[in-house]
Amino acid sequence: MLLKVLGTAAGGGVPQWNCACRECAGARTHPRRRRRHAALAVQVAEGRWYLVNATPDIGEQIEDCPELHPGPGHRRTPVAGVVLTDAELDHTLGIARLREAEQLEVIATAAVREALRGRRQLDSLLAPYTELSWRDLPTEGLAQPLAAGSAVHISAVPLSAKRPRYAATDPAGADAPGDWVTALRLTDRATGRTAVYAPALGTWPQALEEAVAEADCVIVDGTFWDDDEPRRANFSTRGATAMGHLPIDGPNGTARRLASLPARRLYTHLNNTNPLIDPAAPQHKTLARLGIEVAADGMEIVL
Ligand code: MLT
Ligand code: MN
Ligand code: ZN
Repeated sequence: MLLKVLGTAAGGGVPQWNCACRECAGARTHPRRRRRHAALAVQVAEGRWYLVNATPDIGEQIEDCPELHPGPGHRRTPVAGVVLTDAELDHTLGIARLREAEQLEVIATAAVREALRGRRQLDSLLAPYTELSWRDLPTEGLAQPLAAGSAVHISAVPLSAKRPRYAATDPAGADAPGDWVTALRLTDRATGRTAVYAPALGTWPQALEEAVAEADCVIVDGTFWDDDEPRRANFSTRGATAMGHLPIDGPNGTARRLASLPARRLYTHLNNTNPLIDPAAPQHKTLARLGIEVAADGMEIVL
């Protein structure tokens, strides 16, 4: 299985357009510190790829990844479709940017589909440009080939019913259940190798524990270093966990859970307030001691 890391930043990216904080300013001065919105590309066959999440940066992300370049035909693209882990804007705005596609397959849970097709009216918005075809993202036990005939199978590990802010209210009640946030499990049936991708991780349910224990590579939410970071940075009155992102460090943190896993482990979806944005930050050494990596834009992961 071949994965390309297209981006590793949380919503806003690094630098964020309206932010002059130390990390964003640092990324303007040192372009190698820049991070685009978190996304992956997964190869399903020679010259055929699916995106995992479609970010506002998707155009540039495709340009920076030669495997995703069009050709040899005039309008032939290796990008076959998009798999969504959630309905957040930073993971879905890019679908509209792909409107030049002849047609585009979008794979998502029922809750995510309803948000995009109902509330966001994506079908009628894009109908004059392209045709979206929707497919259900199957949950555990019902894994299916990502593309017909492909050895790469997908399934979702439900994480939480936390809705995006634009969908916070609902006639059925904001607490109405639904698979709003999932981890994506990718298994190559030819090699038996498995990756788990969870860029939004506000809970750590037993099903996730089981999925990561069996995985060869785990790429998870590294939005915030510690729970207090959003409050310290003064952009929220809530802590990281309450915002839907378990922090890396601390008693509730994901680092201690990842530390004992046999898999290759990486953090992605870094917010611009996260000290890890600075390559000289001591927090990098803390992770290195646990054998955990910070994913980088452009990284290739071969499983
Ligand atoms: C999140 O990860 O919590 C959301 O992407 C936030 C946002 O898009 O503003
Ligand atoms: Mn996000
Ligand atoms: Zn900033």
